[in-house]
Amino acid sequence: MIDAAGKVLEIRLDFTDGLPERQEFEPGIRRAPNRGQPLSESEIVLALKNALRYIPEKFHREIAPEFLAEYRERGRIYGYRFRPAGKITGRPIGEYKGCCVEGRAFQVMIDNNLDFAVALYPYELVTYGETGQVCQNWMQYLLIKKYLEALTEDGTLVVQSGHPLGIFASRPDAPRVILTNGLMIGSFDTTEGFFRAAALGVANYGQMTAGGWMYIGPQGIVHGTYNTLLNAGRMKFGESTGNVLGGKLFVSSGLGGMSGAQPKAAEIAGAVSLIAEVDPSRVETRYSQGWVSKRTNDLAEAFAWADEARSSRRALSIAYVGNVVDLLRYALDNGRHIDLLSDQTSCHAVYEGGYCPGGTSFEERTRLLNEDSDEFRRRVNSSLREHFELIKAHAAQGAYFFDYGNSFMKAVFDAGVREIAKNGRDTFDGFIFPSYVEDIMGPLLFDYGYGPFRWVCLSGNPADLRATDRAAMDCIDPSRRFQDHDNWAWIRDAEKNRLVVGTQARILYQDEEGRVRIALKFNEMVRRGQIGPVMLGRDHHDVSGTDSPFRETSNIKDGSNIMAEMAIHCFAGNCARGMSLAALHNGGGVGTGKAINGGFGLVLDGSKRVDAIIRSSMSWDVISGVARRAWARNDHAMEAANEFNARRDDCHITLPFIADDNYLAELVRK
Ligand SMILES: NC(=O)c1ccc[n+]([C@@H]2O[C@H](COP(=O)([O-])OP(=O)(O)OC[C@H]3O[C@@H](n4cnc5c(N)ncnc54)[C@H](O)[C@@H]3O)[C@@H](O)[C@H]2O)c1
Repeated sequence: MIDAAGKVLEIRLDFTDGLPERQEFEPGIRRAPNRGQPLSESEIVLALKNALRYIPEKFHREIAPEFLAEYRERGRIYGYRFRPAGKITGRPIGEYKGCCVEGRAFQVMIDNNLDFAVALYPYELVTYGETGQVCQNWMQYLLIKKYLEALTEDGTLVVQSGHPLGIFASRPDAPRVILTNGLMIGSFDTTEGFFRAAALGVANYGQMTAGGWMYIGPQGIVHGTYNTLLNAGRMKFGESTGNVLGGKLFVSSGLGGMSGAQPKAAEIAGAVSLIAEVDPSRVETRYSQGWVSKRTNDLAEAFAWADEARSSRRALSIAYVGNVVDLLRYALDNGRHIDLLSDQTSCHAVYEGGYCPGGTSFEERTRLLNEDSDEFRRRVNSSLREHFELIKAHAAQGAYFFDYGNSFMKAVFDAGVREIAKNGRDTFDGFIFPSYVEDIMGPLLFDYGYGPFRWVCLSGNPADLRATDRAAMDCIDPSRRFQDHDNWAWIRDAEKNRLVVGTQARILYQDEEGRVRIALKFNEMVRRGQIGPVMLGRDHHDVSGTDSPFRETSNIKDGSNIMAEMAIHCFAGNCARGMSLAALHNGGGVGTGKAINGGFGLVLDGSKRVDAIIRSSMSWDVISGVARRAWARNDHAMEAANEFNARRDDCHITLPFIADDNYLAELVRK
């Protein structure tokens, strides 16, 4: 790039004052555990060489020993010294430098993902999900910001696993940022392969919205969890209206990034919830945010509170500071009935610290991770086996257990429990317990196109959020389907439920029509100056965004749930149609090699150009997944696809003929 004076523009880190000063770590901020050092001596040299690419040669002898120490102490080179001093927070967009609104908008999103109040391990750039990073190190963070400041509407920034490759010429209606995280070649696409590549500094685990720059705090998952619990209640307890979960007990684990949404969602849905969390600091975070109402490390006290709330049919959320295995064993030994049961430990990274084994304290877990990974693995496997037995016993007494998309059942299977697989052999036919997508979210939401649409008011002004909440509510017809009624009620009560942590953001499940309608409405409000610019996005965990047989596509039964083509087409189509940002990742919520997932960001600047992008890209982003689900013969997706075909004269979805199962079974048997 050439600047106005005809000079080649150098986009590099600024070393005019030498290396940045080393800083103290703020006390009380959670730190990522050391997950071990997988590299050989020659590979460590390679990792150092890789990290030093961001730094002029004259500083190498000063900084290389520090990077080596980071690798030895942390298993990764994070470049801590390059983290800007003080608090990082998603500020109002006007406070950021940049040459286009998108360039400034993405800086808001990235900084929100790294806010001490939002991120799980902010110093290690981990936003949520134990290992989900914005990028790999602080040199990348600084360089990405420099690129975003220089970005214009004639260029596209390309980011590969956190590394900004450069800005390349494009056009105003092309994406401003295209990014990928952790995509690996098939035969290396394993947890071990990823771990090595990440230590070398060439692979980033982006989870979903961490590396996709679209995390909006635990709120992002509250609506989905609320929908899941409500519909689990409707399914299990046979009521469709009223206080379905009144007096019912929901037990689960995890008060981390996303799991922290469970008590809040359960409370909004009217249930009593008891959530185990081994890390006291995470309990304190959720308690101080008002996301969980009571906390104790005494199980008798926890169940006494739960009993009292159940008998008065009063919603209450309780955190048990301890291991979920202990909680389940206590409940069984003391005859405590559980209505709904799940788990949200980070089993997608089960041997990397995501699951704390029963009988092992949180401190011991952190020590073992670093010092004796074999022993840690042995304890995890043995705990998962006991965990499974306890779940089985509770299920036999009437608890409805569902896997919460954290790879729990796969982890139990990998720990040696063949019995958890439906065919007792492998995972091709699924598991004996349902996953929440298989039973609930897939058929009732994704197949119709309902998914976790979200927005961030980039002005940072709560009045903008209030105005968008009202406008979105006006776009929903609550009488169309029960899902629309749930969504309408959700947005009506959103402000009252105090969901914001970090930027002024909102989650609202919507289908294709709803998302397009709301997006056009918001863009018009921006055009009229009623609100500032808005970032639209969604979780990758959506109708079309993710191919994962262990979660998002677990209710696809035509054998194609091992294919990753929907997520890749969704990403490619979003690029072609001009989303401001398009992201494609490996892993997501279930782990490396188990999912391909993508997302987008679309900046509403009030222009007619953006209106046109909304009409094609927002529609594609949802309906491509409905089309694939319809082809897989999913009833509700066929219904939604038929409706789409009837209302659009410019698009058409291919629909399947339906064979007679009994006839075919008979034919093959003969
Ligand atoms: N809710 C959803 O819809 C959804 C969506 C996507 C992913 N997930 C998956 O859910 C998992 C959790 O996500 P997160 O962002 O909350 O991760 P996280 O790592 O921030 O939180 C998990 C929590 O579980 C706790 N924990 C671990 N083992 C425990 C045990 N045995 N007993 C009690 N607590 C224990 C940890 O201390 C941690 O706080 C991930 O695997 C994620 O991919 C859930």
